[in-house]
Amino acid sequence: MKKRVFAGIRATGRLHLGNYLGAVKGMLQLQDNPQYEALYMVADVHTITTPYNVQGLRINRREAIVDYLAAGLDPKKSILFLQAQVPEHAELAFYFGSVTTIARMQHLPTFKDKVKQYPHDVTMALLNYPLLMAADILLYKAGLVPVGIDQEPHLEVAREIARKMNQEYGMNFPEPVRFATKGSYIPSLNGEGKMSKTVEGSFINLTDSVDVIRKKVRSVPTATTSGGEMNPGVKTLFAFADLFIPNELNKYKKEYENGTLQFVTLKDAIADAIYKDLQPFQEKRNEIIKNQEYIDQVIKEGAEKARSIASQTVMEVKEKMGLS
Ligand code: TYM
Repeated sequence: MKKRVFAGIRATGRLHLGNYLGAVKGMLQLQDNPQYEALYMVADVHTITTPYNVQGLRINRREAIVDYLAAGLDPKKSILFLQAQVPEHAELAFYFGSVTTIARMQHLPTFKDKVKQYPHDVTMALLNYPLLMAADILLYKAGLVPVGIDQEPHLEVAREIARKMNQEYGMNFPEPVRFATKGSYIPSLNGEGKMSKTVEGSFINLTDSVDVIRKKVRSVPTATTSGGEMNPGVKTLFAFADLFIPNELNKYKKEYENGTLQFVTLKDAIADAIYKDLQPFQEKRNEIIKNQEYIDQVIKEGAEKARSIASQTVMEVKEKMGLS
């Protein structure tokens, strides 16, 4: 049997460059590796763990599938599906709650960040977020997960749950590990923290035009003169240069060091390279949305395939736990 790969992205809006470099590039790489069977999910149920708009979610979950297709994920090679259409995810997450303490969930850095961000919306769904993510992965007994570095604490929880379920109930869950890409951590455009959908001014969308990308990259706070210790904005700029114009990196670094670098020249070179990378995605996306029936079919078939695997695992878990 082929080894399985699993990844998901929340349906919180259009994909941004961080999602693309940290996750989607790895997903593409693994989809083309014949050693693996890949499942790529839109985490629409995870989206309801923080405040959201119902109509927005209805649209975004479908648009996320379109983004997957436009990025090159291929339903002939990978199983692409919506989490809410496979109810086994929520069911297994509940069973996992019996081997997980509340304290463990409360201490997670990802949980603490969300509590700070939404102090009036600290719900049970939010606390259970990592259980649902563990269920996503373990339902398919996936051992490899292409995600950005920010998801590492969640993977650790998934490994702990796998171990406990194996020890206590004799399951054979693998301990999933992260598949890393070169862009595992894409910094925010404002020079603070990571690029994130929920932080305005931090991200570049994959559907942004060249003008918008130029404007956004130009807004990275750099400095009036070059040379000396790099501030966070300058570091961010060089991180992007390393990813998008690696052959010119040294040239710009030397210019920075000897104080002759014009930041706007570097910024525009990066912006143009980003756009060039995104152009095929944008063109493909425009084609795909013309065929809504195809999108319906991908969603329907993906759910059926995912469910046929997921239902077997849930049956096995129920059997081992004395629930059948
Ligand atoms: P989400 O929706 O926050 O992000 C989707 C993917 O994009 C990566 N990512 C980044 N990578 C590099 N730099 C950044 N600035 C950046 N921002 C986001 C994330 O690491 C992620 O890979 N919990 C997950 C969704 C999920 C999931 C799963 C993932 C649900 N179930 C099962 C894997 C397996 C999340 O919130 O991702």
